[in-house]
Amino acid sequence: MNRPTHTLTEDAIEARLRQGLRNRWYPIYPSNRVGPTPVSVWRLGEKLVLWRDGGGRICVQEDHCPHRGAPLSLGRVAGDRLACVYHGVEISSAGQVLRVPGSPGCSLEGRYAVKTYPSREIAGAVFAWFGDGDEDGEHAEPAAFDPPPQLVSDEYERFLCYTEWRTPYRYMIDNNLDPMHGAFLHRQSHSMAEGDYSARFEVRDTAHGFIVEKVDQRDVNFDWSEWCDDGAFFARLEIPYPKRSGPGGNFGIIFMIAPIDERHSACFFWRNRKVCGWQRHVWQFLYRNRLEGRHWAVLEQDRVVAEGMEPDACARESLYDHDIGVVRVRRWMRQQAIAQLSPSHSASTEA
Ligand code: FES
Ligand SMILES: [Fe+2]
Repeated sequence: MNRPTHTLTEDAIEARLRQGLRNRWYPIYPSNRVGPTPVSVWRLGEKLVLWRDGGGRICVQEDHCPHRGAPLSLGRVAGDRLACVYHGVEISSAGQVLRVPGSPGCSLEGRYAVKTYPSREIAGAVFAWFGDGDEDGEHAEPAAFDPPPQLVSDEYERFLCYTEWRTPYRYMIDNNLDPMHGAFLHRQSHSMAEGDYSARFEVRDTAHGFIVEKVDQRDVNFDWSEWCDDGAFFARLEIPYPKRSGPGGNFGIIFMIAPIDERHSACFFWRNRKVCGWQRHVWQFLYRNRLEGRHWAVLEQDRVVAEGMEPDACARESLYDHDIGVVRVRRWMRQQAIAQLSPSHSASTEA
């Protein structure tokens, strides 16, 4: 739906995009890095504490004590609550102040005073819902998010590769919607040595995004990428494996990203393969012993370029035909930003 944008300034749209679109689920941290000790991270410019209660349930809250603002991440988990290190105020996983030991019965007790983010764990990552406003604001209730089968189906084997890079998150989204760089940047890699150096691309719309693909080449190199935005956004792509990489189908990647701040990003790459039975075990073995290192080497090539690009590189670029995926995903993101900044927006009209 087209809405009038005359009340929105370009600055407001750009600011929303820089900080990260709201009303989405984002992966924020690997699950196995959150144990008995609270962890502090920044995501979408917000400071969060991640902790597990005594039952192992994950909790994501603002890292800010409602008493005087000490980081809750310095506190201690005690069963169903997190106790602030400064004066011992105890917070529940729902954000309620359960006890003020220094002043029992004070008015702070009982209040829901700590912003708490809906959260869940999927495929080895903690996901959190970032709504529009505070927890009483619009879209405090999360949208549905059905993870792609590559993350949850038994038909796939997957390994999460997590990394934090000093690059604006949008550069990495561009990177994943740009199949052409495989034939150049990764030409010396184990999986992208084949195929043409030039290509014509076309874009196909899907129910929740689009696919950008080479017209004349498939399953030779990094030849297509899909953008999907349905409760959370991600890119899905496949790259053929050479025969020596064992049995099974193409090597797949589900890429998701959460902005840390305007210059840093938390990147999640789920490397996956559709394999079953003994082939699954072969791939697990090969991945852990031989392939993982090679994939990291490929990713390092992306990191060097992405971190080397200036923050305003996109203001000085000259796009050409094979950048059609980049153009489309930027347009998509911009439309989402405009939709959620428009006064009458609702979650159901954003997609
Ligand atoms: S600042 Fe947390 S208890 Fe005082
Ligand atoms: Fe790459």
